[in-house]
Amino acid sequence: MYSEKVMDHFTNPRNVGEIEDASGVGTVGNAKCGDIMRIYLDIDEEGIIKDVKFKTFGCGAAVATSSMATELVKGKNINEALKITNKAVMDALDGLPPVKVHCSLLAEEAIHAALWDYAEKNSIVIEGLEKPKSDISEEEPREEY
Ligand code: FES
Repeated sequence: MYSEKVMDHFTNPRNVGEIEDASGVGTVGNAKCGDIMRIYLDIDEEGIIKDVKFKTFGCGAAVATSSMATELVKGKNINEALKITNKAVMDALDGLPPVKVHCSLLAEEAIHAALWDYAEKNSIVIEGLEKPKSDISEEEPREEY
């Protein structure tokens, strides 16, 4: 049912944790299942994502997609990170079962929410970035991964 890469990132997720004084933090939830994800970005003056961490209270597919998404955005600039879609993350994982595709949206939305937070903190506008609908940054994740 799951690819080897999905199983690898689920059982050994990369970049789990949090970043103190992160440049941007995004927390999003999936209204259907109630799962929650938070992503922390450390962005330097050049706009390069130097570090990224995540915490999630979510299913295995959400853990695997978050893990892969953090690997894909690390070292990228803001505009490159913005282009990393849930499809790109799924492709990098050799696919997800159709019923789990919605889980991959959490990672994409959390990255966008963290970029939005970064833009707000720095009073800048990131071209092409819209405020994520499921941003629930006022709420705390119910449980840490
Ligand atoms: Fe909720 Fe996968 S079932 S994110």
